Amino acid sequence: MSRSTKLQEQFLIGNWKMNPDSPKEAKKILNGIKKEASKSRKTTVVICPPFPFIDTLRSGYSGKKIRFGAQDVFWEREGSFTGEVSTKQLSFLGTEFVIVGHSERRALGENEDVVRRKLEAVLEAGLRPVLCIGEHERNESGVHLEFIQNQLISAFSGLSEKALLGTLIAYEPIWAIGKSAQRAITPHDLHEMVLYIRKVLISLVSEKRAYEVPLLYGGSVEPMNSRELASVPELNGFLVGHASLVPGSFTQILESLER
Ligand code: PGA
Repeated sequence: MSRSTKLQEQFLIGNWKMNPDSPKEAKKILNGIKKEASKSRKTTVVICPPFPFIDTLRSGYSGKKIRFGAQDVFWEREGSFTGEVSTKQLSFLGTEFVIVGHSERRALGENEDVVRRKLEAVLEAGLRPVLCIGEHERNESGVHLEFIQNQLISAFSGLSEKALLGTLIAYEPIWAIGKSAQRAITPHDLHEMVLYIRKVLISLVSEKRAYEVPLLYGGSVEPMNSRELASVPELNGFLVGHASLVPGSFTQILESLER
């Protein structure tokens, strides 16, 4: 049975974070997922390794299905910014996607203004940003909804509707990141949030454009919960952390999206 999404394309994005230690281990993970990824029919598989491994992995990959992404980028085009990486440099490596505003980067000091600048730089470079949003906690009064709305409004402020084409949004509640399937969100709560995010998007851009923005979920997606979460209407995929480092788990999550 096909899932009731207006948007047919789905995404499975692996965020490897600061793992693994060596290029050899990185290649092993990629090798472990490429066969299953090559069979995917409706899911775009993206892996976001640490910067030092992007080139080795991409140039050594002869398949077509897996795309590559970065976990961060700097907003300036070039210049004296020690330690930073530009969108152009990423483009030369064949990187197509860039995670922007991950909560672990926000925890290191990235504020809403930085997130907005990065989003703009990524879009200007013709790359696809994966904008991460998500609340720290929830309570009865529903403050998390306002939190999410504010994150979206400030990330998109000053950007044209046209510029937003290509943006993906990953809803990643911080309380669910890096835990286990038991601590992830329930399908019911996720559905509610997907509808809410769509509503906020409709207030910011046209309804048509709002429905073109893929909405992903991230936060302890594992084989144990991926099937029920994948059945949430109008959800367009997952951003996966720890389970993306385990090929067997990542490919099972892919199967859940392919059903
Ligand atoms: P997790 O991480 O799957 O390990 O919870 C998700 C993320 O931080 O992107």
